Amino acid sequence: MLFTTTKQQEELRKQVRTFAETEIKPIAFMLDKENQFPSEQIAEFADMGLMGIPYPKEYGGAGLDVLSYAIAVEELSRVDGGTGVILSAHVSLGSYPIFAFGNEEQKKKYLVPLAKGEKIGAFGLTEPNAGSDAGGTETTAVLEGDHYVLNGNKIFITNADKADIYVVFASTNPELGTKGISAFIVEKGMGGFTFGDHYDKMGIRSSSTAELIFNDVRVPKENLLGKEGEGFKIAMSTLDGGRIGIAAQALGIAQGAYENALAYAKEREQFGKPIAQQQGIAFKLADMATKLRCARMLVYSAAELKEQHEPYGMESAMAKLYASDIALEVCNDALQIFGGSGYLKGMDVERAYRDAKITTIYEGTNEIQRVVIASHLIGKQPK
Ligand code: CAA
Repeated sequence: MLFTTTKQQEELRKQVRTFAETEIKPIAFMLDKENQFPSEQIAEFADMGLMGIPYPKEYGGAGLDVLSYAIAVEELSRVDGGTGVILSAHVSLGSYPIFAFGNEEQKKKYLVPLAKGEKIGAFGLTEPNAGSDAGGTETTAVLEGDHYVLNGNKIFITNADKADIYVVFASTNPELGTKGISAFIVEKGMGGFTFGDHYDKMGIRSSSTAELIFNDVRVPKENLLGKEGEGFKIAMSTLDGGRIGIAAQALGIAQGAYENALAYAKEREQFGKPIAQQQGIAFKLADMATKLRCARMLVYSAAELKEQHEPYGMESAMAKLYASDIALEVCNDALQIFGGSGYLKGMDVERAYRDAKITTIYEGTNEIQRVVIASHLIGKQPK
């Protein structure tokens, strides 16, 4: 599949790049060191229309396309991987299920403020005993009168206490396995809904990640998303799209590390000439640029397929798998080019190296991406 980016997409790239360079880059080291969420910058995302990029204007979005969204995540991640995932989790995971599966009332009440950036979204799927095996959800939701009562814990949740609106998965009928899982829209402040401590993470430290704790949380019946038992499919199809966001994040992190390494290699002299002119380094740069180009093709074409309403689950898994694997390789090579100085705290390349790692783990480990890709190729295999 061939594609070219449009003038509008490239203008958006320029706008987000300028913002990331001027507003995020100067504080990225501090955000990382202090584990600090960039609240002021996220508020500016709203003014720029980033929080609802791919959603229709009638629901408060910018009415742009999926590729524009991927470009925005890429450009933020080029400077700070943590900031990239804040947008990705908000747009793909917190907002998308409401856009795709919500009824008109739910969209008006929840999608509009999310897309306008007045509220931040999050997605509660992962649990201590339901990581890769998302169907093992143990959180329960029991219907009592006009409310579902939720009990359980969700771990590793991006945006966590910084979010306001959560799409949470819980079993309404544990005997039915994946077919007993339902999706709910939960609001911060509902009684019994609290947060665990922030995780002290290796990377993406500007993003907030914590546990969601549900202790007899009464969620109004009208906050059921889709029908009872449809939750697992809602989660899976949401993740199909979310993986484009993570692929774009990985691409951006790697692009930033590559550009830093290229600039350094051109100016750093050893043996009487810039190291970029020494074949060992020149070949590394050539490999890095080639991998980035392949990854970009996969990410953008998955985004285009989604935009065109074509099947894209396999392509988004391929994009996420490849972009995250090469992000680790590219960041490793970039750090190698910097030598000892790249190993120091405060160096962008050191932070990129740490930020890149999570992209092979979350929104489905790369082992799970292979399960997904293989099931598209050869059909689902018996358990
Ligand atoms: N879209 C719609 N429906 C889907 C689907 C999809 N992409 N994938 C599966 N389904 C349906 C199947 O068709 C099946 O329905 P039927 O029984 O009616 O045919 C049903 O869902 C169950 O499917 P499976 O039997 O294939 O399910 P499984 O239990 O074998 O699990 C899995 C499949 C792919 C391994 C899945 O569990 C999975 O994706 N695991 C990874 C979870 C994950 O990615 N977690 C990320 C958490 S969010 C996160 O990380 C965000 C962050 O921090 C930023």
